[in-house]
Amino acid sequence: VVQSIGIVGGTGPEGKGLAARFARAGVEVIIGSRSAERGEAAAAEVAGLTGGKVRGGTNLDAAAGEVVIITLPYDGLKDTLGPLAATIGGKIVVSAVVPMRFEGGRPQMVDVADGSAAEEIRALLPQARVVGAFQNLSAHKLMDVDHGLEGDVIVCADDREALQATIDLAGLIEGIRGVNGGPLSSSRYVEAITALLVNINRVHRTETHVQIVGI
Ligand SMILES: NC(=O)c1ccc[n+]([C@@H]2O[C@H](COP(=O)([O-])OP(=O)(O)OC[C@H]3O[C@@H](n4cnc5c(N)ncnc54)[C@H](OP(=O)(O)O)[C@@H]3O)[C@@H](O)[C@H]2O)c1
Repeated sequence: VVQSIGIVGGTGPEGKGLAARFARAGVEVIIGSRSAERGEAAAAEVAGLTGGKVRGGTNLDAAAGEVVIITLPYDGLKDTLGPLAATIGGKIVVSAVVPMRFEGGRPQMVDVADGSAAEEIRALLPQARVVGAFQNLSAHKLMDVDHGLEGDVIVCADDREALQATIDLAGLIEGIRGVNGGPLSSSRYVEAITALLVNINRVHRTETHVQIVGI
């Protein structure tokens, strides 16, 4: 059972949303930021919403969590993760990052040399056991902590133990099932689903998730 989760880049909507769900599940959460004050303010907000154990600080403070989740914008990965590598070491690092930008109001995937944001994180943190997960969960729905979510989180990793630990973490979110999505290199497909969901959300004026049927 995971005791604490650090969230690097945790002051944005996605980081706070995941923090809220894990805090509700009884896990201690550390929200990281480039500014300790912003980290503390986000933690106070999530603690108020959930009644959970939430601390805030710098991204280095978040890197001290037992498991580290990355909710940075894709463009911030290189500068932010290098200085955290020594603290993170061989821990489980979960990427929720989607390398997507908006062009003319439409989502566009950014070409990533490593194949996916998750694989780029592995290149930046070569000792870490990197996992791709949570890329398709909308921040808005995550923050609505009094309602369960319905759907699946596809989890991709090369390290079996890290994969299973992250499937278990996903299962802590009410209504969510973690599904083994295969190797870390498959994260590129999961990341791209988010661009599709953004388009579907626009057409249907709602927030959608994915569910895998047949297993
Ligand atoms: N929003 C969603 O619904 C959603 C859903 C699925 C996946 N995602 C993915 O999750 C990640 C976070 O999404 P978000 O909407 O929460 O993003 P965000 O608000 O734009 O960024 C998250 C945090 O990262 C920090 N940050 C911003 N630019 C940075 C930079 N250049 N270098 C270092 N840190 C920087 C900021 O915190 P400080 O200023 O406090 O450091 C910011 O609060 C993205 O990769 C996104 O694709 C988002």
